[in-house]
Amino acid sequence: MEYVELNTKQKMPALGIGTYRSPKGELGKAIKIALETGIRHIDCAYFYENEDEIGEVLKETFDQGKIKREDVWITSKLYNIFHDPKDVQEGCEKTIKDLQCGYLDLFLIHWPVAFAKRDNLELFPKNDDDSMCTVDVTLIETWHAMEKLVELGLVKAIGISNCTKEKIDEIYEKAKIKPAVNQIENHPYLQQEELCQYCRKLGIQITAYSPLGTTDFKQENALLLKDPVILEIAKKHNASPAQVLIKWNIQRGNAVIPKAVKPEHIKDNFECFKVKLTEEDMKQIATLDRHLRFVNPMYFWNIDVFGEANKK
Ligand SMILES: NC(=O)c1ccc[n+]([C@@H]2O[C@H](COP(=O)([O-])OP(=O)(O)OC[C@H]3O[C@@H](n4cnc5c(N)ncnc54)[C@H](OP(=O)(O)O)[C@@H]3O)[C@@H](O)[C@H]2O)c1
Repeated sequence: MEYVELNTKQKMPALGIGTYRSPKGELGKAIKIALETGIRHIDCAYFYENEDEIGEVLKETFDQGKIKREDVWITSKLYNIFHDPKDVQEGCEKTIKDLQCGYLDLFLIHWPVAFAKRDNLELFPKNDDDSMCTVDVTLIETWHAMEKLVELGLVKAIGISNCTKEKIDEIYEKAKIKPAVNQIENHPYLQQEELCQYCRKLGIQITAYSPLGTTDFKQENALLLKDPVILEIAKKHNASPAQVLIKWNIQRGNAVIPKAVKPEHIKDNFECFKVKLTEEDMKQIATLDRHLRFVNPMYFWNIDVFGEANKK
């Protein structure tokens, strides 16, 4: 396993397992297999509505004693309805309770967008005209409440997700604790090189999500796992296309969290470290960028989170 070092000096495994839209009943088994295989980094979120299933497996694993809590890196995310500073701790504690893990290694602000918090905690609170019911809570207000979670010992590190340069600038200077991570969509069709470099300059680690081009927001002619350049490089290295995609991100210094529930996929991804891409491979993959975003809140919330960054 390779690690990336955060600005907190913590070492985070460069490869984790994603859990978004992992089907109920299959997710727990996948986490068990991932841990048996050697994966020690799990990417979770309140929004995925499945942290309880992961928590069952974590509890069983830690109770058995073969793997200790401190051996597993657990990331989760504060959902949009908990952005009001008075709600941030509640959002965090709900996650820790469901995951049955005592504390989080890393807690991220999932999206730089604040939603109204209704009594029933609905994930998609709407206005009468069916638009999303957002509230005026600034990112820095939420960030300061995130900082308190570190002081309380609920989380070891805090970070952001889906943040453009402009969003980072809103909090960076004023932050007492600088963001440790920015988790963003990143794969050869959406390389975001400028943003990656900006984060590196500030000491913010990038974690790449949807690194295989996801399966859930597929777009025509955009099957990353079947891209001819990726297939050719994979063949040359006797590797799978997924291994090439994961290793491409790791060799750029990013952490990567491919989602997988099929045992053969989980094992295939873990074995990516045997692949070493050459400089020529990296250059060839760099030419594939087409600024194609699979995960865009314009599609599901009708909210423009990325602004100018979407147009590039
Ligand atoms: N911060 C955010 O806003 C945000 C947004 C999106 C995602 N994420 C995180 O990032 C994770 C990954 O992104 P994602 O779920 O969108 O998509 P992804 O990891 O790019 O793709 C997942 C798909 O790839 C398949 N797969 C996995 N390993 C494979 C292999 N070795 N060969 C062939 N296919 C393989 C999976 O199949 P099986 O599952 O059937 O094995 C699944 O269909 C999420 O699960 C979530 O944890 C974060």
